[in-house]
Amino acid sequence: MTDRLTVAFAKFAMPKKGSVILLASEGGGLGAHAKACDPDGVLARAFEVARFSGKLAKSIEVLAPAGTEFDRLAVIGVGNAGAVEETGWLKIGGAALAGAKSASDVTVVADLDGAGPAAEDVANLALGMLLRAYSFDKYKTTSRENGEDKPADKVKVTVQCADPAAAKKAFARAEAIAGGVILARDLVNEPANVLGPVEFAAKAKELEKLGAKVEILTEKEMKKLKMGALLGVAQGSVRPPRLAIIEWNGGKAKDKPVAFVGKGVVFDTGGISIKPAGGMEDMKGDMGGAAAVVGVMHALAARKAKVNAIGMIGLVENMPDGNAQRPGDIVTSMSGQTIEVINTDAEGRLVLADLLWYCNDRFAPQFMVNLATLTGAIMVALGHHHAGLFSNDDALAERLTSAGLSTEEKLWRMPLGAEYDKLIDSKNADMKNSAGRLAGSITAAQFLKRFVKETPWAHLDVAGTAMGSPASEINRSWGSGFGVRLLDRLVADHYE
Ligand code: BES
Ligand code: MN
Ligand code: ZN
Repeated sequence: MTDRLTVAFAKFAMPKKGSVILLASEGGGLGAHAKACDPDGVLARAFEVARFSGKLAKSIEVLAPAGTEFDRLAVIGVGNAGAVEETGWLKIGGAALAGAKSASDVTVVADLDGAGPAAEDVANLALGMLLRAYSFDKYKTTSRENGEDKPADKVKVTVQCADPAAAKKAFARAEAIAGGVILARDLVNEPANVLGPVEFAAKAKELEKLGAKVEILTEKEMKKLKMGALLGVAQGSVRPPRLAIIEWNGGKAKDKPVAFVGKGVVFDTGGISIKPAGGMEDMKGDMGGAAAVVGVMHALAARKAKVNAIGMIGLVENMPDGNAQRPGDIVTSMSGQTIEVINTDAEGRLVLADLLWYCNDRFAPQFMVNLATLTGAIMVALGHHHAGLFSNDDALAERLTSAGLSTEEKLWRMPLGAEYDKLIDSKNADMKNSAGRLAGSITAAQFLKRFVKETPWAHLDVAGTAMGSPASEINRSWGSGFGVRLLDRLVADHYE
């Protein structure tokens, strides 16, 4: 659900109903406007009883607080008020939304002792609330009752702060980013019977509403472009593939675009090299890379970023049927390089091979960053806490890593090298699509690298982070939207 919360900003005033959220810095310090919401002074004792000291994103609550008209008072700690980072404010916002429980009317009193939160911080707090409020429940028809801990279907949030106009302005940007993250989560969570390649392409097309240009290539057009690697994957499905190109031209006409490329396997059965049944349902999320690309393009267009950006996604379904490709088949990619398909389950790299080549060829971008739920091996290496980063360009890798640190979408750089590259040589073709168990994520990356020439490029293996990552203050959803805030930040910091 994308429109659960509406957020408004206002001056400080005594709240009259619903849930009221206050902030406290470490040591339990409240601002004057916050203190006014506790006329009978019930909080001091509550802090003591709950041993609440104001640590970041910790909270306490008081029901029906004496001397007020509202139902619930929650206090969220901000830690050391002067040193809260951007992601700290997101977490505070997430905790605030949780603290409001099922109220449909929520007032946040963004006031602290000493200097209150800046407009930017207030906007990030509200962004944290939006991200936390998301839940994928559109298919729950019978069990939607609002438990105490579930946000109401419609929540009206009023954030009281020192400069509501400035907060509103900063929030416009935060809202654009939230829209991108939530769109990516929705796409990942949606089951594959509903979201096939054609339907996914239609979702990408909707970005035209934000002023982006969107072109959808059909199978026929991809055949003409000789995308034999991508088409080989698609041929086992009755649902035809699509390739979507999203262009956002917010920069100067002469500026080379930045490019984001995404793996969009709407469902990955493994093909003829079929996967085991256990957990296969998770493969509805094998388009997490493409979802992040659509999400970041949404964010850039919605906030009118001053950059020229390309989002390119390859949408296919990897199925076993009478027309599916076989192990041993040799396909010719758009680049002309031939590939022996050893394992039809190593399909993501086949899709990306043609996408990367085409993107580079057609748009000559400043850089290409591709995102893909590419290998199970990256989870063995990094778990759910970092995405794997592979790059031919140290400066780009550095920028991505630091963007990920500031948005807490962490990346860990992995090696590339000639020794690994050799492992994908094939005796029957130019290369093979699988080199076996060892260094599985690296050999996958080496494969992609053969399709990028000299262009600065990075590959983010998001198999462990795009879906099924642990619940956090700002995400309770299986599909996480990983990468959207990170790439938006990369662009904001270096390319506009
Ligand atoms: N989509 C999978 C990778 C994956 C696994 C993503 C689990 C998310 C969760 C990918 O297409 C795949 O099947 N990779 C194989 C490659 C192997 C056959 C070389 C893998 O990781 O086992
Ligand atoms: Mn696969
Ligand atoms: Zn896959």
